[in-house]
Amino acid sequence: MVVERATRKAAERRRCLITGGAGFIGSHLTDHLLALGHRVTVVDNLSTGRRDNLAPALAGPHAASLRVIEGDLSRVLRAELVAERFDHVYHLAAAVGVQRIVDRPIECIEANVIDTAELLRYAAEHGTAGGPARTLIASSSEVYGKSAKTPFSESDDCVYGPTTAWRWSYATSKAIDEYLALAWHAQRSLPVVITRFFNTVGPRQVGDYGMVLPRFVSAALRGVPLHVYGDGKQTRCFCDVRDIVPALVRLMDKPRALGLVVNLGSDTPVSIRELAERVLKTLRSGSPIEPIPYDRAYGPGFEDLHRRQPDLTRARDLIGFSPATPLEDTIRAIADTLRSPPPA
Ligand SMILES: NC(=O)c1ccc[n+]([C@@H]2O[C@H](COP(=O)([O-])OP(=O)(O)OC[C@H]3O[C@@H](n4cnc5c(N)ncnc54)[C@H](O)[C@@H]3O)[C@@H](O)[C@H]2O)c1
Repeated sequence: MVVERATRKAAERRRCLITGGAGFIGSHLTDHLLALGHRVTVVDNLSTGRRDNLAPALAGPHAASLRVIEGDLSRVLRAELVAERFDHVYHLAAAVGVQRIVDRPIECIEANVIDTAELLRYAAEHGTAGGPARTLIASSSEVYGKSAKTPFSESDDCVYGPTTAWRWSYATSKAIDEYLALAWHAQRSLPVVITRFFNTVGPRQVGDYGMVLPRFVSAALRGVPLHVYGDGKQTRCFCDVRDIVPALVRLMDKPRALGLVVNLGSDTPVSIRELAERVLKTLRSGSPIEPIPYDRAYGPGFEDLHRRQPDLTRARDLIGFSPATPLEDTIRAIADTLRSPPPA
């Protein structure tokens, strides 16, 4: 990485904007783009992100190429970044986590829809060389809703529950983001790529907003029960963030990816019960596994999905995507970050 940076000519150093850059995925992307020799501006309101996530970048050899702006995205775009131009924009800021959506639906729906609309308009008008900025929109496997098909491929139907079930508001808000991004691409030639992440996991992810793996790792380290919602037979595919982040940059560099929706994640299913068992085995923890009914976890009427597995044909074809990090490595890496106290 250092060699690449040293040999990168000034003209090749991109100006990158990362919204949500103090978050879990965004902070890893910040590290990666800086290591590649690019200049990075992070905008984050620290609602679920943490300044600590950027501590390595701010203390590292590329710190001079990093600018961090704390604040709500819409306000920062209109005020502090109004005269700026960017080559690449990575839009990761969003209200995330099932628990947060259930608890604060207004803030979540507004943040996901209104901020993305503003961001797309900003990207169209603030590119370098007089053109629009190349833009990546982070979407979610939730967009597939409760479709029973396996695996999910990008052109499949999306199937949602009623508007009275908050669970689907996140999926719908992300689907609107996708429609808007595709509309900007079709109508105004905005160079945009949309990534649908399946469960992305790794160091710096926290369990506070319902994310299952850090929640399990934290419980295993503390010796308290691992709460498995429902019967634990539901399966998910977990992919390490360190496999995901380079793929984002490679997709942005692929003209063929523009205007496309691309699944990104692992395609190896693991049941939630098995996930709990693998956490306990990897960390040699004696914590018990405790089933919790969905109603108790999320309130009455919560609907979950039995399976969620991506078809990765498109990602493989575009960038040769092939995630390689074993789940046990990810579990150990999360445990390491949870054990180490945040920097003073
Ligand atoms: N982690 C996953 O498994 C996963 C799965 C599907 C989709 N995604 C998507 O990937 C993106 C990143 O998710 P993450 O897991 O890193 O979550 P995260 O919560 O760590 O990151 C989101 C970041 O956005 C910031 N943010 C939220 N609203 C903001 C606003 N109005 N203005 C400025 N900053 C704001 C938060 O403070 C946070 O740092 C999100 O768009 C999310 O929907 C993630």
